[in-house]
Amino acid sequence: MSLNRKHYIGAGLLLVSLLVISVVVVAIAVPVVNSQDSAEGVMTSRDKAMAYLAETPLIDGHNDLPWQLKSLYNNSLETVDLTADLSHTTLHTDIPRLQAGKVGGQFWAAYTSCGAQYKDAVMHILEQIDVIKRMCAKYNKYLQFVTTADGIVEAHGNGKVASLIGVEGGHNIDSNLGVLRMLYELGTRYMTITHSCNTPWADNWREEFEPTPEQLDGLSAYGEKVIKEMNRLGMLIDLSHVSVATMNDVLDISAAPVIFSHSSAFSVCGSYRNVPDTVLSRVVEKKGVVMVNFYTQYINCPPRNISADPREATMAQVIEHIEHIRDINNGAGIDIVGLGSDYDGVGTLPTGLEDVSKFPDLIAALIDRGWTEEQIKKLLGENLLRVFRDTEKVRDQQNAVLPFDDVFPRVNVWEVNNTCRTYVG
Ligand SMILES: *[C@@H]1O[C@H](CO)[C@@H](O)[C@H](O)[C@H]1NC(C)=O
Ligand SMILES: *[C@@H]1O[C@H](CO)[C@@H](O)[C@H](O)[C@H]1NC(C)=O
Ligand SMILES: *[C@@H]1O[C@H](CO)[C@@H](O)[C@H](O)[C@H]1NC(C)=O
Repeated sequence: MSLNRKHYIGAGLLLVSLLVISVVVVAIAVPVVNSQDSAEGVMTSRDKAMAYLAETPLIDGHNDLPWQLKSLYNNSLETVDLTADLSHTTLHTDIPRLQAGKVGGQFWAAYTSCGAQYKDAVMHILEQIDVIKRMCAKYNKYLQFVTTADGIVEAHGNGKVASLIGVEGGHNIDSNLGVLRMLYELGTRYMTITHSCNTPWADNWREEFEPTPEQLDGLSAYGEKVIKEMNRLGMLIDLSHVSVATMNDVLDISAAPVIFSHSSAFSVCGSYRNVPDTVLSRVVEKKGVVMVNFYTQYINCPPRNISADPREATMAQVIEHIEHIRDINNGAGIDIVGLGSDYDGVGTLPTGLEDVSKFPDLIAALIDRGWTEEQIKKLLGENLLRVFRDTEKVRDQQNAVLPFDDVFPRVNVWEVNNTCRTYVG
């Protein structure tokens, strides 16, 4: 049952001629090849995006999957399989889609609602940190828990998603620097100074349009101690969700650069969750990073689009935000721009950026717009890595500084006359 020699030679000739024909066809096709098609010798924008993503970790500043694990599954990791394709569910994140999206590093948000303030916020935040750690342990073939800038690079080199903890909201420390230090010891590497409520020591973004009698006009003296202790510990300071006055107060006093883990550009879409140009300019000088949020409400709104429906947006509009930040201070903004999707923390996302698998499409679109390899890599992760390393350096320089042991003066009604509290001091 074998070909005789003659047939064999005939088949060989046929193969050779097929090969010649296909080479000719490819040669003709190459000059007219569409930028989305792949052909030998031609790197499409998408090929380039994939190559850059392999070389430099894409570090996303904010993903709320841990909150989804709590609200959908009561933190029971046995009831959800993150290695399955969950795109038919409401989740924006699962391991196959993280891999398709070439996500290299992820700050997982540990979130508790402002309703827990003055009550059981510390319990809730420990529970969120616990579920992040258990998720990383269960899926350690794909996720690597890390706490340093070098750790991010190493995990990416291992082909895993570097996984970090960001605590969302200063209410989670219950005005206690001891709690802040323990959150750091558990691996927390950023804290968002407020969520959408004031803490007794810092104002949140809502003060910009709904001022309260408690407004501090930024940080209180105790708030400054929180910032100094974060500098001493080496914890990144996240200014997403704070008021403009708080942004400026922190920029005045912090020894380390700052991050915005999930905020976009105010002059493109005038939500106070976004960053005004004056502050963007100061972040350039401070060598911080602003990681663009994809939430439609923070992307598509006045002043740029006076007829915006905030429930919808496009990838092109996200690019407007990215390029606005890049162009700050005559282009120096290229050193502060990053990505902070807010996947699994928002209900509506732009067309083309529906879930974590879509990052390569965004990068390919930027390449089509003329972004160079160097610029893309800054956006992907180099800017965040620089800020992280500078923050670690400040920590190392301050190793002779003793922990701050200031006690917060508990005077407000929620703390003094609150039956949930057994001790006020
Ligand atoms: C989580 O557990 C609580 C208490 O048993 C229960 O009331 C709630 O329905 C559960 N939620 C989910 C999403 O399973
Ligand atoms: C403005 O918003 C509307 C409604 O969301 C949308 O259809 C339109 O494309 C937007 N225009 C621009 C210039 O982005
Ligand atoms: C706490 O309640 C007591 C008794 O009603 C009241 O006298 C006091 O002013 C309250 N303290 C604060 C800080 O509101």
